[in-house]
Amino acid sequence: MMNKTEMNIAIFASGTGSNFHAIVQDQDLRKNVKLLVCDQPGAKVIETAKEYNVPSFVFSSKDFIDKAAYEQRISEELRQKDINFIVLAGYMRIVGETLLATYEGKMINIHPSYLPDFPGKDAVGQAIRAKVKRTGVTIHYVDAGIDTGSIITQEKVAIDEGDTLQSLTEKIQRVEHRLYPKVIKQFLEAER
Ligand code: GRF
Repeated sequence: MMNKTEMNIAIFASGTGSNFHAIVQDQDLRKNVKLLVCDQPGAKVIETAKEYNVPSFVFSSKDFIDKAAYEQRISEELRQKDINFIVLAGYMRIVGETLLATYEGKMINIHPSYLPDFPGKDAVGQAIRAKVKRTGVTIHYVDAGIDTGSIITQEKVAIDEGDTLQSLTEKIQRVEHRLYPKVIKQFLEAER
């Protein structure tokens, strides 16, 4: 029998949300994006969610005793909205076992390097400082490690002479904004 499960997506983001924007700009994807989860009250991404009529759950980790407690609260929100797929898009927290228990294998992340090169924070700066000739973008499943989950797709981005943190970030983000919606659509198609 065909699996006709509707894909209900939650996007997790902490900041600007340019990837969030790229995803919800796509008409097909927008219908499936049911929730923004944001850990930074005041983040720009919250405004973008409002513009696109995506409900948001905003929290402050300091209001909770520990990671398990806030992830428990997030889980309640996810359950209420029947979320069955999570897209991390600049979510600056390490996902803990509470969320992984339910969503491992159904949670993906985008990282601004050609993993396994330059995992963790400031991947673009790491690449500049390493003086390499190319970096990239990786979309991968989320596991308990930092940017270690199995890779879904990757694309290389050249670092040219004279590239700065800003110019390279822009190049990488252009790739991200094309690649992430495309990959999420493939998941959507696979569910149909
Ligand atoms: C992106 O570069 C993504 O690869 C990384 O965080 C950044 C988020 O940017 N995980 P934005 O908030 O989507 O603009």
